[in-house]
Amino acid sequence: MPDDAFDPAERREYEFRKADFDRVRALIRQRAGIHLAEHKQNMVYSRLSRRLRVHAMHSFTEYLDRIEHDVPFSQTETQEFVNALTTNLTSFFREAHHFDALAEFLRAGTGREPPKIWCAAASTGEEPYSIAMTMLESAAGRAPGKLLASDIDTGVLETAVRGVYRLDAVQRACGPTRPSRFFLRGTGANEGFVRVRPDLARLVEFAQVNLLATDWPLVRQFAGGAFDAVFCRNVMIYFDKSTQREIMARIAGVLRPGGLLFVGHSENFTDCRDTFVLRGKTVYQRL
Ligand SMILES: C[S@@+](CC[C@H](N)C(=O)[O-])C[C@H]1O[C@@H](n2cnc3c(N)ncnc32)[C@H](O)[C@@H]1O
Repeated sequence: MPDDAFDPAERREYEFRKADFDRVRALIRQRAGIHLAEHKQNMVYSRLSRRLRVHAMHSFTEYLDRIEHDVPFSQTETQEFVNALTTNLTSFFREAHHFDALAEFLRAGTGREPPKIWCAAASTGEEPYSIAMTMLESAAGRAPGKLLASDIDTGVLETAVRGVYRLDAVQRACGPTRPSRFFLRGTGANEGFVRVRPDLARLVEFAQVNLLATDWPLVRQFAGGAFDAVFCRNVMIYFDKSTQREIMARIAGVLRPGGLLFVGHSENFTDCRDTFVLRGKTVYQRL
């Protein structure tokens, strides 16, 4: 085995050299902005070797050549490539203090009713449906508003649109009353699963948006002016500082003055002082 291959002790179906890993890193960075750390090489091998198997290919060189050059192939396969390399960990009411802050903000009235919110890295849907539940709970007789939920990964968006989750996960994260108020319980073969109720699903529109794109026409069109709040949580950590700054500037362009930006627990944008002021733990307000 060549000395630049990984894990010489491990028997692999395909050869996966450092040069292949570096090509993957460059491609995913270019397509999605995602910076893959050195220690992700085994993860990359296992996720992408499935794609080689699907296409009955014999080497990473062949696969990556196709991603780079063969346009009809790469239009669909690049999407599969991106889907394979994203990390989609999420849960209902993750970082619960954000939902308390959102409820307070909505109850106080956004000034422009009904409110519009964007969830910019929606993953499998737990986050946007948690936002939508908060919108319904805070409406107090007013129109609850609308939510755009987007992600780059088309696979997770399909799961989100389906809106089917494990009952135990919903019960664990959503508190005592929300499971029956917002979800329908599955029976028979669907025992142990729930589906979001239509009145919750109706609030949410799912769409694919790449945060790396230099313009977001669909986002601007949905906002119809500007959003009252944006959730962009646990995704900026995958981007480098300059990409983060560019995305923050574009978010500032679609968020109304006084609107709230919710970010992930390990994300810090205090250097964007000209557009945002920190209002609470990982909650920023558009100046
Ligand atoms: C770790 S999940 C976070 C999900 C959710 N926001 C949360 O905090 O629970 C990160 C999500 O960001 C998405 N993502 C990664 N790169 C992206 C990009 N360039 N544009 C849009 N979404 C992206 C991934 O597909 C993934 O679903």
